Amino acid sequence: MFYKKIIRPIFFKFDPELIHDLALFFLKITSRITPLRRLIQKICLVDDERLATRIGKITLPNPIGLAAGFDKNITAPLAYKMLGFGWVEFGSITYEPQSGNPRPRLWRLPADKSLIVNYGLSNCGAIEARKRLEKIPNWARPFGVSIAPSNSASIQSMADDYLKSFLLLAPVADYITLNVSCPNVAKRDCFTQVSFIEELLTKISQIAKEKDIDKDIFLKIGPDLPKDELDKIVDLCIKYQLAGMVAVNLVKDRSGLPTIKSRIDQMNHPGGISGRLTAPISNQVIQHIRKRAQQRLKIIGAGGVFDADDYFDKIKAGADCVQMMTGWIYQGPMAVKKINYRQSALKQKELEQKQPDARRDRAVSWPFLPEKVFTIKDLIFEIYKAKDLFTKDWVSQAHQDIIKNIRRSYLRYGDIDLIDEYDEKAVVFFCRVLDQQNCLFEQGVEFFTSRFVPAHGEPHSTEDLDLFLCQNKTIHDWFKNTLLSREKNYLQNIITVSRNAGVSGCQLQNNENHEPAKLKHSALSFIFMNHVFASEYGGQYKYLTAVLRDEIFARYKDKIRDFFDHDLVFPRFNKLLGLDEHELKLKRERTVYKYPGYFLNSSQITSLIENLYQQEKLSYRTLSRYIKDFSPEIFFDKNASWRETVCRLKGLGRMFSQQGVLEFSDLTGEELRELIDNVVDDAPGLHAIRFEDWREQLNKIINSF
Ligand SMILES: Cc1cc2nc3c(=O)[nH]c(=O)nc-3n(C[C@H](O)[C@H](O)[C@H](O)COP(=O)(O)O)c2cc1C
Repeated sequence: MFYKKIIRPIFFKFDPELIHDLALFFLKITSRITPLRRLIQKICLVDDERLATRIGKITLPNPIGLAAGFDKNITAPLAYKMLGFGWVEFGSITYEPQSGNPRPRLWRLPADKSLIVNYGLSNCGAIEARKRLEKIPNWARPFGVSIAPSNSASIQSMADDYLKSFLLLAPVADYITLNVSCPNVAKRDCFTQVSFIEELLTKISQIAKEKDIDKDIFLKIGPDLPKDELDKIVDLCIKYQLAGMVAVNLVKDRSGLPTIKSRIDQMNHPGGISGRLTAPISNQVIQHIRKRAQQRLKIIGAGGVFDADDYFDKIKAGADCVQMMTGWIYQGPMAVKKINYRQSALKQKELEQKQPDARRDRAVSWPFLPEKVFTIKDLIFEIYKAKDLFTKDWVSQAHQDIIKNIRRSYLRYGDIDLIDEYDEKAVVFFCRVLDQQNCLFEQGVEFFTSRFVPAHGEPHSTEDLDLFLCQNKTIHDWFKNTLLSREKNYLQNIITVSRNAGVSGCQLQNNENHEPAKLKHSALSFIFMNHVFASEYGGQYKYLTAVLRDEIFARYKDKIRDFFDHDLVFPRFNKLLGLDEHELKLKRERTVYKYPGYFLNSSQITSLIENLYQQEKLSYRTLSRYIKDFSPEIFFDKNASWRETVCRLKGLGRMFSQQGVLEFSDLTGEELRELIDNVVDDAPGLHAIRFEDWREQLNKIINSF
């Protein structure tokens, strides 16, 4: 209301392009101020996992995107999540920077809630765009980039011009849209032709294969194509295995529009039309593509989405998700929220009505048989074995892929290998949790994995035993000479549980952004996998060890207490020897400094860096060399969540393990590590328990329900 009654009338008194530029500038500034961004996001974003939508290889947090053309030059990339959009498409970008058509080149048609657009592909060019895209942090993803031909490219070199932009931009984007439909450029008639599109797709798919660029590609078409040409283009998209199509771009041919209410003089400007007037034509095109392509292409619908009804019209016509721009400009910043809110309410209603069918559907679509199933109230825990002890073979490639995808959530601690040499001798489990109350949607499913690594065999020992010291003696020493001194081969008696990681159902499909998961059932999954391991292999081992972070173990404990009224006991290693907790320490060696987000206390690290920054021992320049997108106000924000802190600590691994002087600094890596050792505590501890005690405890828990 406030926007429509006050802001919009003021905006509409000024030149549309000026207002567009000012809006972008305002968004750029506000989105960089973290507390303000969070506040606006709280107001505008509908945070409901059920809205997650899959297109190609990416999962959109919700199906409403900002269409290409609003932020052509990647000016305010942090703003769109804050405004509630599921994603943004930047561009269109051409290889050469270009200024586009002379001003004025944007006009409003308020009576028709539409715009006339005649920008002519003004943009900063692919080289500059790449630099800007590289700076976008992971949390602001996903985003697509629309590419188009430079005006300077001849008809013969047009496809190669696209290729140059593709090679530069595809590696940093989540997907690429080939815009073959801008109505406002001189060579338009050429690049919308089927023969050109075929040449373009041949070249693009060839280069993508050669350069191993595995990104989704969409083709954006105009609304004015004859049906037989449209069919041919759809067939080409299928043939070249594009992820889908964006339908549609601006309307050039005004004869197909519904009755226009705007005055003739307002319509007198050159350019393409967007907004309300384009909705019927866009829906027809979407319907046509869906009929032709069936389910072989995803469709991003665009053209005249203003509210939830327009959104549902597009979905009914066959779109998988929609983009909007003109509707957002006319309706104001709450438009996206209103649509998502309607969807969210609808999903809830569906859930309540269709639950029995949904359960049956899920049971049919999952192909693996669990080792064991546990049921508590409405929760089903299915335990699967992905590989066995002392074999390199996984049960199937799909099992290995599942484990990799779950472990991706780990990468926020540093760039570790998803599968490593310890997996070769380990038994690896995963647990699939189905929440029957919620099983219609991805958030009703969770996955969790743990592996059990025996200390004997190759590689000798396990990571965990090599990471800690107790009373300055190695853990091996303690096992060999004290705890297992009577055993011939002490290593044969030790098993370690590690790589405990989880993701929600929708992240399992695509966790490339390494988003932290909001999981509810990790503790129970962990217990059930341990129980299965103990029943099958437990007799062989005398001790179980695990490196666990305090806050995670505390959460496990709380959960087990809530469910089973049992106090989970898995003490630190020193307890086995009757020694004090402070006697147990991480060996401050390479691994610890390389993955500080996992091994070191995150807030203490941040404070240390802040102090060094204020004392000018670490300069902005130095920190920027090591930390991607370093900005003091984000990095030192005390209100940052633990997860954000961990994410940003990732960049510090290289700095903390530096040999000799740091870049642009007098400080050496050695000096920095000494400072860290003085003030930063260990984050995880080495836990250890007699296996017999562990098994007894698990039995007690399992038998209590
Ligand atoms: C000001 C403006 C600039 C645009 N620039 C581009 C562009 O550069 N590339 C592109 O593919 N589409 C561009 N479009 C088209 C939009 O992406 C979208 O397809 C079209 O506007 C229909 O959606 P709408 O009715 O929600 O605005 C532009 C649209 C507008 C209004």
